[in-house]
Amino acid sequence: MTLPRALRRFWHPVCTAAELAASGIVGTRLLGVPIVVASAEGRLLALHNRCLHRSTMLSAGWVCGDTIQCAYHGWRYDASGACVEIPALPDGPIPSRARVEAYEVTAAHGLVWVRLEPGWPTVVPPHPSWDDPEVHVAVGEPYTWPTSLERRVENFADLAHFAWVHEGTLSSRAAAAPPVPEVRRDGAELVFVYDPPPIASPDGRALVGRSIYRVAVPGTVDIEFDVPGAGRRHLWMTVAPLDADDTEVRCYWTMSRSDDLDGDDGPYLEFQELILEQDRPLIFAQQPRNIPFEPGAELSVRTDRVSIEYRRWLTQIMDAADPDALGLILG
Ligand code: FES
Ligand code: FE
Repeated sequence: MTLPRALRRFWHPVCTAAELAASGIVGTRLLGVPIVVASAEGRLLALHNRCLHRSTMLSAGWVCGDTIQCAYHGWRYDASGACVEIPALPDGPIPSRARVEAYEVTAAHGLVWVRLEPGWPTVVPPHPSWDDPEVHVAVGEPYTWPTSLERRVENFADLAHFAWVHEGTLSSRAAAAPPVPEVRRDGAELVFVYDPPPIASPDGRALVGRSIYRVAVPGTVDIEFDVPGAGRRHLWMTVAPLDADDTEVRCYWTMSRSDDLDGDDGPYLEFQELILEQDRPLIFAQQPRNIPFEPGAELSVRTDRVSIEYRRWLTQIMDAADPDALGLILG
């Protein structure tokens, strides 16, 4: 099975809770599937975003009671996807085929999450600092990049690129040989600790210190920084694959801190945006956008330990034939 196909079994964000709250209904897409999400009478709905009647996107419509109403001729669909009203046929009958696909949907960490395939032992990935009362969470602006979920995660957890892509901000060419961490699995997470090598003069705003990385497979990374004098910091990021072949992603991210609780979020977010701008040209230049999983297609070396373990896990996820097999792989 291909990775994009296997990703259908996992929960992915489809929009922010704020985006949904702004209009009550949002058209979005996940792995090539057009989805309309709506908040109707306090309940979330996620349906295939195409009216069965004349193929108008349901996201052009509105919430009506506990249903979504199509704007073109007023057909209404409930949370199960069943059409419950055809205004042009007040006496019915409603055809039994008048049903669009409905998806599992939930809200967590300020995001709306959807899983396309039910019945798999997968959960919404954790956000370790979201509900922590001692921590302030600054929410970054989501961004869309022409890459795959797996390339985005690899870049986020790549220790060898700091000296090159982030020279002067996170590291230095003098530290080109990164430490090779021990990588272990903890449930559905890949965990490792990064002890940065001594660096002559990183940017004063950089969080350079012992960092605990938790990669919740397949698409979420939390980095907890233990920086002397800086309190507790978390950089959290999750990647949503937008198209069917997983070559475009939308990334959602937060920067949390236990100090400077009343301070302005601006400088914290701006520094991370500077780091993103440094990564951007290299990610945009990667071809193919997906990781090629054929043996030998890319050359790994000893310092690519994290990537090697991540790819090994993704390969196992692709090979999992049934929920029990995937459950074993995800701990
Ligand atoms: Fe939706 Fe006609 S296209 S009701
Ligand atoms: Fe980077």
